[in-house]
Amino acid sequence: MNDPKIIVALDYPDAQSALDLVARLEPALCRLKVGKELFVTAGPQLLEKFMQRGFEIFLDLKFNDIPNTTAQACKAAAALGVWMVNVHALGGRKMMEAAREAVANTAHRPKLVAVTVLTSMAQQDLSELGIAATPAELVLRLAKLAYASGLDGVVCSAQEAAMLRQHTGKEFCLVTPGIRPADSDANDQSRIMTPRAALEHGASYLVIGRPITQAVDPLRALQNIAKEIEGLE
Ligand code: C5P
Repeated sequence: MNDPKIIVALDYPDAQSALDLVARLEPALCRLKVGKELFVTAGPQLLEKFMQRGFEIFLDLKFNDIPNTTAQACKAAAALGVWMVNVHALGGRKMMEAAREAVANTAHRPKLVAVTVLTSMAQQDLSELGIAATPAELVLRLAKLAYASGLDGVVCSAQEAAMLRQHTGKEFCLVTPGIRPADSDANDQSRIMTPRAALEHGASYLVIGRPITQAVDPLRALQNIAKEIEGLE
C-alpha cells in the first residue's frame, strides 16, 4: 500500500489558496495537514474536495476537553473520513482512552495521535503552570502516557524521535514538524532536521509546510524531498 511519509502543512487563511496549492501536488507523494485556521474558515467541505482528489488528511485540531467531549469530536472527525486526528496528551489518560475507544469501531478508523508539549513552551512557561519538569522530561512522560493509553503515536520534534523510539513500540507513529531540506530557509523554526535525518532518527511521518508551499515549483520541491527519502520508507 502507498504510504507517503510527507504531510504538507496547509497553513492558509482561505480555501482558494489551499486549493490552488493542492492542485499542484500529487496524492501519491504526500498527505495534507489541515489546522485550525483553515478548518474554521473552510470546514468539512474543503476536506471533502481534497479527499475527492485522492489526498488523505491529517486534521490537526489538537482537541483537549473532558473525555466525552473530546471523544465525540474525534468520532466526528472519523466520520469525515480523515486519516489522522490529534488530541493534547495533557488532557490525560481518561481523555485519551475515551478518544481511542470512540474511533475504534468507526468505518474509517483514523490514526489517533497526541501532542505532547508545544514547542512554544519553554521551562519558564511550564514553571508558571506549576509544572516542575523540564520540557524534555514532560515530553517523554506524556509520550509514554499516550502510548499506554493506546494511542497510535505522538507529534514530536525530530530531535526527540530517537529517544521516544526507545520507549515505544516500532508501530508507534512519530509525526515530526520542523523539517527543512538542506537547501531551504529555516524560517521561524529553530531546531530543524533534514527529511532524511528525521526518518533515520525514527520519525514515521514528516510535517513540511513552507519548503513546499512557498516554493516556486511546489511539485518539484515535493518530488525532490520524496526522492531524498526514497528507500527509507
Ligand atoms: O512551514 P513549516 O514547515 O515550518 O510548517 C510546519 C507545520 O508544523 C506548521 O503547520 C506548524 O504549525 C506545525 N508545527 C510545528 N511545530 C510543532 C507542532 C506543529 O511547526 N511543534
